[in-house]
Amino acid sequence: MINGGSYPYIRPRRVRNSENIRRMAAEHHLHIEDLIAPLFVMEGSDGKEEIPSMPGYYRYTLDRLMREAEEIRSLEIPAVLLFTKVPDEKKDNEGTEALNPDGLMQQAVRRLKEEHPELVVMTDVALDPYSSYGHDGIVRDGKIVNDDSVELLGRMALSHAEAGADFVAPSDMMDGRIGVMRKELEEAGYPETGIMAYSAKYASGYYGPFRDALDSAPGFGDKKTYQMNPANVREAVREAKLDEEEGADIVMVKPGLPYLDVVRAVKEAVSVPVSVYNVSGEYAMIKAAAANGWLDGEQAMMEALIGFKRAGADLIATYFAKEAARLLKG
Ligand code: PBG
Repeated sequence: MINGGSYPYIRPRRVRNSENIRRMAAEHHLHIEDLIAPLFVMEGSDGKEEIPSMPGYYRYTLDRLMREAEEIRSLEIPAVLLFTKVPDEKKDNEGTEALNPDGLMQQAVRRLKEEHPELVVMTDVALDPYSSYGHDGIVRDGKIVNDDSVELLGRMALSHAEAGADFVAPSDMMDGRIGVMRKELEEAGYPETGIMAYSAKYASGYYGPFRDALDSAPGFGDKKTYQMNPANVREAVREAKLDEEEGADIVMVKPGLPYLDVVRAVKEAVSVPVSVYNVSGEYAMIKAAAANGWLDGEQAMMEALIGFKRAGADLIATYFAKEAARLLKG
């Protein structure tokens, strides 16, 4: 090899010299079809409320949600992930309202599928927005009980499927819920409804703005008995493999930016698509810094999104979906 294979003959900068050669040498690409847009739904009509800790992000009433969906569709974003804000008087320990066939979630799914049949509609399945305790499962004697919660979550998933959801997305982290949901969906005649499992969901400080958006902060304690310890990665692989075996069609890692190594490890361990959730706190950090003029928000956003792809994510749920899609469309 000439000169030991190094400088001055070897110059890695040659593939960075122009916009086109940089495009040609790019190892990873972000596509609009990688994006999932989360949507927050609230009761009422003709309303839109900005979430204070998520500048530029809103909760919508059903009618306004349809307009938002229209915009998402026109940007060619393929999927939405729905969350509901439930008024306090409809909350209880068993999340009864979550099963209401005419509840906000069920109505939102029906209308979206009527008006935008080609949009992939995914629904959050967990009790927290419906729970008087703000926990993802049923509370008994100060503990979040597993098996009864799983049974209830299975019924909740079924109710979303009945409304027409394409995918249910359980974010509760109870043990065994994917298997129970799969069985429930099959037996009730919904073999085509998919499951996107939040498989490795961590007990994270980055969910703060989301809990403001839905008024869903836990009323006591924290979520550490069901969400994962941020110190662990092998456990994430175990969770993802279990969910795949139980019938998950897509597995998810959440949050995103502090967990890119987890995305990589999960990607190598499963054969279903891997999604990552670029959560509310990650959005808020970039927005806040950009608003202060401390960093270029657009550049930081695109760098975060390509970072997810580099780590191995196939899909990215992100509050930046519309902004990124606009840039990608050029
Ligand atoms: C609740 C749920 C949470 C998020 C999605 N589903 C919050 C939590 O577990 O407390 C967080 C999303 C975000 O922060 O963007 N089941």
